Amino acid sequence: MEIALRTVAYLAAAILFILSLRGLSSQETARKGNTNGVLGMAVAIVATLTCSELDSFAGILIALVVGGTIGARMAATVAMTAMPQLVALLHSFVGLAAVLVGFATYLAGVKAGSVFEIEIFVDVFIGAITLTGSVLAYLKLKGSVSGKPLLLPGRHLLNLAIVALSLGLGYLFVQADGTDGVWTLLGMSLLAGVLGAHLVAAIGGADMPVVVSMLNSYSGWTASAAGFMLGNDLLIVTGALVGSSGAILSIIMCRAMNRSIWHVIFGGFGTEGGAPAAATATQPEGEIQETSVEEVVGRLTAAKNIVIVPGYGMAVARAQHKVHEMTELLRARGANVRFAIHPVAGRLPGHMNVLLAEANVPYDIVLEMDEINDDLPDTDVVLVIGANDIVNPSAETDETSPIYGMPVLQVWTSEFVVIMKRSRATGYAGVDNPLFYEDAAHMLFGDAGSSMDGIVAALRSDAPVGAA
Ligand code: TAP
Repeated sequence: MEIALRTVAYLAAAILFILSLRGLSSQETARKGNTNGVLGMAVAIVATLTCSELDSFAGILIALVVGGTIGARMAATVAMTAMPQLVALLHSFVGLAAVLVGFATYLAGVKAGSVFEIEIFVDVFIGAITLTGSVLAYLKLKGSVSGKPLLLPGRHLLNLAIVALSLGLGYLFVQADGTDGVWTLLGMSLLAGVLGAHLVAAIGGADMPVVVSMLNSYSGWTASAAGFMLGNDLLIVTGALVGSSGAILSIIMCRAMNRSIWHVIFGGFGTEGGAPAAATATQPEGEIQETSVEEVVGRLTAAKNIVIVPGYGMAVARAQHKVHEMTELLRARGANVRFAIHPVAGRLPGHMNVLLAEANVPYDIVLEMDEINDDLPDTDVVLVIGANDIVNPSAETDETSPIYGMPVLQVWTSEFVVIMKRSRATGYAGVDNPLFYEDAAHMLFGDAGSSMDGIVAALRSDAPVGAA
């Protein structure tokens, strides 16, 4: 009876997870999707706790309360700009859990048989790769470790050798009696740990967005492998959902950046055909045109078509609410104001969409890069707010650039481009931006939040009757 009840509860949780993913695929339904995910997880936890034979219910309850409190605190306090490293850290927990559960299951010696042992071995192998890969990704994204790719000579051979050695250990593990294979399991864990770290170490800073979603995918497959090992259907299904959605997201992001997914999986991606990307604060020389808040406001009030390109700097300056306010003031004047979202703007997938949704910007004026690029030549004013790499023309023209081949928003084709940033410094990829020296380009130096304050104040003082 208990098993039947648990199966029904697991089925309900799996359906809620699928509805959650479906909801998260669009901004309008994202909140509902999130709620479904939370509900699904609650059903899964309650069903597991009530329908399983537990040695220590109190111990699990204490772990739930402590873990839940830490998680809630982290989620409540994390800055939006620190989200990618938090996600990477959370992936490492999935890997760690898989390794620990794998060892515990093996040492408990509950089941025997080579299929079961292979399940344990695969679970620990993927778990260890996910663990060290995610920890290194966390450190790179946090800036504690250099974003420069580590390109050891013969690195692909090294990876292959580690996989071959692990397979050999796997053979010995399955042959071992009782729990004698624990040393081979430990040896493989160390090798897989080195492999995970090495794969991520070989990836350049500019390509880290794809790594985060790849690690998301790995963590899903880890959970799925743990599901096979523990005979838990829900874990298999949930892991497969996370694994495949992470893989699909990685493919979408690779297409957006014109990169090969295989280079991401095998490391060293984004480093061939260009200098390694490294974030520097170089100040390129050249003639630039500076503009002022007054001139920008004058251009905006005279413009019919306006496109706003938000980037990482908008997140740093927390300027999204002011940007929304400006949008409403300009729309009240009759201007056609739209947003152009690059797939890797900011520091995590959908970063700009989340910020704009938080500021209540209507979804129908937020367009993807492919939907708006062709309209840019007919645009009177483009406001680039804290964006850099995603509007860099060298991605189209300079074959030696680390971002060469990445499709970009062609803002330089419009009549008047305002670039709001604090200096001429480079963006995440560490490459100079020739956009600053284009005829149409006008730099509005300063914190994007302060510049937006000035623009909104000027528009308000000059607002037509009935404006928001
Ligand atoms: P970036 O190229 O990083 O440029 C952001 C710019 O914002 C900087 O050049 C900086 O210039 C400016 N800035 C910072 N703080 C500011 C502030 N308070 N006010 C005004 N400007 C400010 O950002 P992007 O154009 O959004 O491109 C994203 C980059 O991040 C890509 O290279 C992408 O590959 C990478 N990346 C993306 C992701 C995902 S999934 N989206 C994840 C990891 C990495 P100043 O210092 O001169 O102000």
